[in-house]
Amino acid sequence: MIDTLQVKITENSNPRLASTEFKDIAFGKIFTDHMFMADFEDGEWKNLQILPYGPIPMSPAISALHYGQAIFEGMKAYRLPNGEVSVFRADKNFERFNISADRMSMPVLPEEVFMQGVAALIGIDKGWVPTQENYALYLRPVMFATESSLGVKPSETYKFIILASPTGPYYTKALKVKIETKYTRANEGGVGYAKTAGNYARSLYPFAEAQKEGFDQLIWTDSATHTLIEESGAANVMFVLDGKLITPAVGETILNGVTRDTIIVLAKNKGITVEERKVTVNEIIAGAKNGTLTEAFAVGTAATVTQIGEIGYDGELYQLSESTTRIISTGIAKELSDIRNGLVEDRFGWNWVV
Ligand code: PLP
Ligand code: COI
Repeated sequence: MIDTLQVKITENSNPRLASTEFKDIAFGKIFTDHMFMADFEDGEWKNLQILPYGPIPMSPAISALHYGQAIFEGMKAYRLPNGEVSVFRADKNFERFNISADRMSMPVLPEEVFMQGVAALIGIDKGWVPTQENYALYLRPVMFATESSLGVKPSETYKFIILASPTGPYYTKALKVKIETKYTRANEGGVGYAKTAGNYARSLYPFAEAQKEGFDQLIWTDSATHTLIEESGAANVMFVLDGKLITPAVGETILNGVTRDTIIVLAKNKGITVEERKVTVNEIIAGAKNGTLTEAFAVGTAATVTQIGEIGYDGELYQLSESTTRIISTGIAKELSDIRNGLVEDRFGWNWVV
């Protein structure tokens, strides 16, 4: 049983909800009227509160800025047909948050702080959960080190904040992706499995280089040999090869995606053969050449299910099948969307009605 915590509430006296245009909102640009915040001090989490979304005073010496002790999560709340709001698989994001915290030498966050923070924020900003198809309220829990100290050591103090941002699809078209064979996102012994800020910082330069070549996104390969496929941008990647759904097995260098796990469950349930294993660049390119690669797609909370239309590798561009022919991924994407939006039975108990 989770204890009920005291959450202090300070309402926003200048709410923006009524004046916000919900059409065509870009990912992560608009935030709701409130945020949830808690402080880690003297070895415990305290000062749980809902307050107006806005700047918070900080010392320029906080260690998150200098040494990168910062982790985050991403999940979505959906509007159900009866008007209620449901958050998708928040328990998995909570679990992963503490896996990231552990790797970055940050304190464990109690489940009740995470869950009641989400519930309190949705409680006050429920009106911000979009009703349009393919829209949701993106929830962004973040924890960062707040000690003003330039010594390289774990901070003694932290802040945990949850932001909420109404959003539509992160990508609106099939992607042209480049299999990256120079830069890497992660390496064995590193922090690839943690959702930590530096993983995203290091991806920006290679991403910009690929964009200059006309690509929308990267497919990361292993740092030792560049022969194994890992992820695609800030999403996991899946393929349909010879009728089987294949995806790289998660490990130290791959984020254990909630969407990935969800799609694997749905696919197996439909009787589709799923292989979680090492996926070689060679087999994907061979499949693209001989037509046995019938589908390729990126999966993530922000990305949802995004089709990959073209793959660039070693100076060649491989055109994949039309998105309309992709029965497996589009079928699963539809089922997933229907579960999240409460249009079909939530057979696996994934929706948490807040
Ligand atoms: N891989 C990376 C690097 C990500 O940032 C994300 C996004 O969260 C994912 C994979 C997909 O994970 P999830 O489905 O839990 O959002
Ligand atoms: C998410 O899907 O929640 C992510 O974290 C991707 C984000 C970095 C755009």
